[in-house]
Amino acid sequence: MNFKDTIRVIPDFPSPGIRFKDITTLLKDGEAFRAAIEQFKDFAAQRDADVIAGPESRGFLLAAPMAYGLSKGFVPIRKPGKLPHETLSVDYALEYGKDSLEIHKDAVQPGQRVILADDLLATGGTIKAAIKLIEQLGAEVVGICFLVELTYLNGREKLEGYDVFSLVQY
Ligand code: PRP
Ligand code: MG
Repeated sequence: MNFKDTIRVIPDFPSPGIRFKDITTLLKDGEAFRAAIEQFKDFAAQRDADVIAGPESRGFLLAAPMAYGLSKGFVPIRKPGKLPHETLSVDYALEYGKDSLEIHKDAVQPGQRVILADDLLATGGTIKAAIKLIEQLGAEVVGICFLVELTYLNGREKLEGYDVFSLVQY
């Protein structure tokens, strides 16, 4: 499967000079979507994952089918104010300003082996925030998978020491 051919590149979105990687074209291609999830599932199974977690919103599109396919639990990491029970929160930097992510304090147990999944590794800010949440709850991030990695943004440098897999690189 040539995944790159299934990803559409949109010039100047959302602002001039940015070449946006549109994964909706991969998701609507049934064979590509299944093949991507199968690879992510294998990655998670090889690392003996207990739980699959993903950041809202595009991370859900990958983490949930992985978890379902492995008969493991899915844990949502959400944007602020969405989770109803007791939460842990962490701030992270955006290009302009900051945002935060939250997790339910009882979403993972100390010692659990967690795989994180998201569509895109750009600066790494989002996934780093997700890692912090999992680790603050005493669980272990045993692997991280992405559909797309923008290597020129060096997000991987923020993830030193973690087991990182990306399906397609630009
Ligand atoms: C996008 C993308 C990743 C993140 C990558 O999410 O889905 O989660 O940015 O960028 P980073 O590596 O620089 O943090 P976005 O916050 O746009 O929200 P969405 O998933 O809800 O579309
Ligand atoms: Mg996202």
